[in-house]
Formats: sequence, C-alpha cells, structure tokens
Amino acid sequence: MDPSHIRNFAIIAHIDHGKSTLSDRLLELTGSLTTREMQAQVLDAMDLERERGITIKAHTVRMMYKADDGDMYQLNLIDTPGHVDFSYEVSRSLASCEGALLVVDASQGVEAQTLANAYLAISNGLEILPIINKIDLPSADIERTKAMIEKSVGLPADDAIAVSAKTGLNVASILEAVVTLLPPPKGNADAPLQALIFDSWFDAYRGVIVLARIINGKLRKGMKIRLMSNGKTFEVESMGVMTPKPVVLEELSAGEVGFFVATIKNVADTKVGDTITEDARPCADMLPGFEDIKSMVFAGLYTVDSHEHALLRDALEKLRLNDASFSFEPESSAALGFGFRCGFLGLLHLEIIQERLEREYSLDLITTAPGVRYKITMTDGSELEVDNPSRWPDPTEIETVEEPVIVAKILTNEEYVGNILKLVEDKRGRQKNIEYVSETRVMLTYELPLNEIVLDFYDKLKSVSRGYASLDYNLAGTWISPMVKMDILIGGEPVDALSIIVHRDFAYDRGKALVSKMRELIPRQMFEVAIQAAIGAKVIARETVTAIRKNVIAKCYGGDISRKRKLLDKQKEGKKRMKRIGKVDIPQEAFLAVLKVG
Ligand code: GTP
Repeated sequence: MDPSHIRNFAIIAHIDHGKSTLSDRLLELTGSLTTREMQAQVLDAMDLERERGITIKAHTVRMMYKADDGDMYQLNLIDTPGHVDFSYEVSRSLASCEGALLVVDASQGVEAQTLANAYLAISNGLEILPIINKIDLPSADIERTKAMIEKSVGLPADDAIAVSAKTGLNVASILEAVVTLLPPPKGNADAPLQALIFDSWFDAYRGVIVLARIINGKLRKGMKIRLMSNGKTFEVESMGVMTPKPVVLEELSAGEVGFFVATIKNVADTKVGDTITEDARPCADMLPGFEDIKSMVFAGLYTVDSHEHALLRDALEKLRLNDASFSFEPESSAALGFGFRCGFLGLLHLEIIQERLEREYSLDLITTAPGVRYKITMTDGSELEVDNPSRWPDPTEIETVEEPVIVAKILTNEEYVGNILKLVEDKRGRQKNIEYVSETRVMLTYELPLNEIVLDFYDKLKSVSRGYASLDYNLAGTWISPMVKMDILIGGEPVDALSIIVHRDFAYDRGKALVSKMRELIPRQMFEVAIQAAIGAKVIARETVTAIRKNVIAKCYGGDISRKRKLLDKQKEGKKRMKRIGKVDIPQEAFLAVLKVG
C-alpha cells in the first residue's frame, strides 16, 4: 500500500487505564471483529495475561478504515506490554510506530507508567495524541487530567480526545485523528530490505512466528533473509497480517507491519530489536537501539518431590522456547537437591513463570529468594560475576563488589511522601530529585540498589501509600557496596538454599528478622531446633523452635474419629510443601521468608 495511506501506532497507558478496552473498541469500529467473534479483550491472548489483567506480549492488528476524506487507510495497531519488567520490548514496539495514543484514566490522572511510556515514545520520535478515558465515571475530571498531562508529560492537551472506551462514547473520533494527526511512515520500498523484529514467539505447529515492521524494501514469501545480529539465514515460508484473524499475504512492503514464519526453530534466534535483511541484497546498517537483553533477577527453582526434576527440566525447556528473555541452567543444592538457577527480567516475570510451571505443568515448586548479579573484583585483580550466593567467593579474597542500581521514579500524592521517603531511605535509596507535577502529585526520583527492589519493595510501596503510588524503573549502572553473604543454619547445619547476599550494615537487622520469621514458619518437631544467621563463622542472630511435648493426636483421644482424620489430613496437606533438610521439615514459605522481612 502507498505509505501515505498507512498509519502505524501504539497505545500506551498506565496499567488499568483502559488500553485493551480501547483497542477492542477500535477493532469493533473498523469492522475487524464481528460481535460474535468478539471475546472480551482479544488482544490479551494468553490466559494468564487475562487473569492478571496485564498485557505481556505485544501483538499487532491491521484495521482498514474509510476516513472522512473518502480514502481507505491501513491502520496498524501495535500493542505494547504494560509492565516495567518489559520496557525494552515496549521501546522496540514503539520504534515500529510513527505515533502513539497516550491513554490516561480521567479519574486517576497521570501515573508513573504513563510518564515512563510517554518519555519512551517521545525519545523514539513519535507523535503523541493524548486520550482521556473513562469519562463515564462520576469521578472523571477531564480538565484536571488535561492540566496534568501538560504539566507532567509536557504535551499540549487542548486537543486531547475525551472518550469512554467502555461505552464507546467519542471513540470514533480517535480513528479520524489517527489519520489526520499522526504522520505516515517514510521509507523506500525499492531499497534493500531492512525490517525490525519487535516480537516473536513459538507456535507448536508452525515454529517461530516473528512480528516485524518493514522500514525499507520488501519482505516476500520465499525470500532468503538474514538476521543481522547473528548472521543466521532463513527462508520465509509464509507471511501475513492479523486482522486479528491471520490473513496470508505474498509480501509486506516499506511502512507495513506483519508476521512471518521462516523455518526458525528457536525463539532465541529472533531477538527483539534485531534487523532483518535480504541475504542476497543486504542493507548497509542495522537499525539503531538493538540490545541483547540480560536477566536481572535470579532464583533457584526446585521441585518439592525430587522425582519430578526431569519434568521441571522439560517444562522449563518448553517455556524457554517461547520466551527468550528467560534463562536457566542446572544447579544443585545440598539442601534441595537438583534444581535450576533461573534468570528473569524482573519479579513479575519470575512470578509469571513460576505460576505457569505450577498451573500448566502441575509442578510443586520451591523457589529460593530472588537475587541479582554482582560483579566481584578479587584481590588478585581477576573479575567474576555471581548471581548465586552459593558461588560467593571467600570474603578475604574479595577486593570490591559492584551491585546493580536502578533509577526509580515514584509518583504519589503529597500526603504519602513522608512514608515513601522513609521506605526508600530504609532501602538504601539516594535522592536525585523531588518535584510537584501538579498541585498535589509529587514525583520522587531515587537511585536504589536492585537487590532491595527485588525483595518486597513494590508491595511495601503499595502499603505505605495505600495504593496511591506508582513505580517505574530503569537500570542505571552500579555501586560499589560492602556486600556480604549471610548463611542460615538450621539445627547447626547451613542450608545453602537459604543463603542471601546483604549489605554489611543491614546484615544484623536482616539476620535477626529472618531467624525470627523462620521460627514462626518452621513447625515444632520432636526435638529442639536452633535457627541461626551467620556471616562466615560469626553467628549474628539465633532463635529456637522448642520441641513438641505431646503427641497432637493424643489430644483428640476419645474424640470424634472424623476430627482425628481431619487433623491427619491437615498435617498431610501441610507436609506437601515441606522439604526435609537433615532431620528437620522445612515448609516452602521458609525459603521465601527473606521476602517478608526486608
Ligand atoms: P493492562 O492490559 O494491564 O495494561 O490494562 P489496560 O490498560 O489494558 O486496561 P483494561 O482495558 O483492561 O481496563 C482496565 C479496567 O478499566 C477494566 O475493568 C475495564 O473494564 C475498565 N475500563 C476501561 N475503559 C473504561 C471506561 O471508559 N470507563 C470505565 N468506567 N471503565 C473502563
């Protein structure tokens, strides 16, 4: 199609501000879906996404729209993932567009992710059209929302379109604005092929499916393509667009967006942000912005039942086929047996993988406390990276430890600023900036160690702000910090899977809190169990689980048999998630206790 009649745009928003609802409404208005076909929120395809109400994978839909000027336009709506863990993917989806709809909930106003996404769109050179959503709500305040967009995002909001994605009110005028206000793609259809990968996934029947934006040239069926980051070549087998039903095409041309399948077996070969070119007539340069994304958060995954270890490996391999940002390698723990060290983009990513393993593969898992990757310089000048406390070197040979640091932007109401400042200071935060973005909303910018964030920062932030704080973060270098390895000993035995890396000045408090939490979690046994926290040979905290005096069943002696059965069942249920370490049964929660005591 003539690029002047193409518009590529994304919808960006804070979580729950109505991105999916609005997308569905646009599909409906352009006749892309009949009501019968229309399931609630088609763009959020995965079950889990729907349940959690967040968009994880980006998808794209082509709509045809007849504008007021009488011409037919091809509108490509590119959906972006809605969570901070996936901001690289968001940025690549945005790089495939010329424009973006910035959706802001009229009852909530601008939130941290609204800003983060708007800045990403601005830095990708996109034209932004503000949309004020949920105007059907009694608490909607259009004028205040406009003022916030102007003050905090720095975009003129006079022309913002006020809509209700839920009722459909005024949504049609968005389509007209997309055609008249957003720029068409540039690009030369006769130049060598240059296309951007912005998403890919594995389909059991068809292999890897890639979503791409054609920047220059043409992608044709049968073409031998080359992926520029790794030089691998493949032959394009089939291609097309989603409408949202897949429609097969023979070619995609400069300015267009679509999917293709090309004998690619491994999703890790099709990295988001990579450039595709024609093997026989390659383009000169890769498109800018490519990054090899690295896992930031690491945790050990073990099965409660050691016989399920092979099942876990199969399940991880299957998940990995579909998710190149997730990594794993075998590890073993003296306490937990054989398991896997897994790397994730962030905590949400970890939770999603863990939930899928438990739900789709029916595995009972023990997850060890999540941590980050440290760069250690040894006294002999050598360097190593450590993401697993069990590989922490001998402290006497460590010269320096570098820990990853993020810049966090927290947007909140002024009454919660005091609480939040205390929280970030407790988490070793360093203040960069505090500013009012409207009369009552404050943006706090802090540097924080990632290690502190992966524990329970987000939950704490929500609780100290009663939910009135939103968070967005980016990785921002490293600090040299005095980090130490803290071991937990149960019954005198160090349990390797419970070791964590902490800042030296926090070790004492963390150790005390941790052993006292453990004492609550570890059930009483027939004998006394000591729980100790230690750094090297030095014990810094100790608690004791006293021995059981009486047999619990004796209590119901003479009582009703069903009650006795219930008690036994309950004990069995409790046992399910226990791991026997030495002589002591340790429940699964104990491995995550470290999350609860930050
Ligand atoms: P993520 O996928 O998590 O980014 O969320 P989202 O931005 O896609 O939000 P979604 O469309 O799922 O909407 C969140 C909630 O707001 C849902 O319960 C919607 O029904 C509701 N909602 C969306 N638009 C409107 C609206 O115009 N008015 C009202 N009252 N509710 C709306």
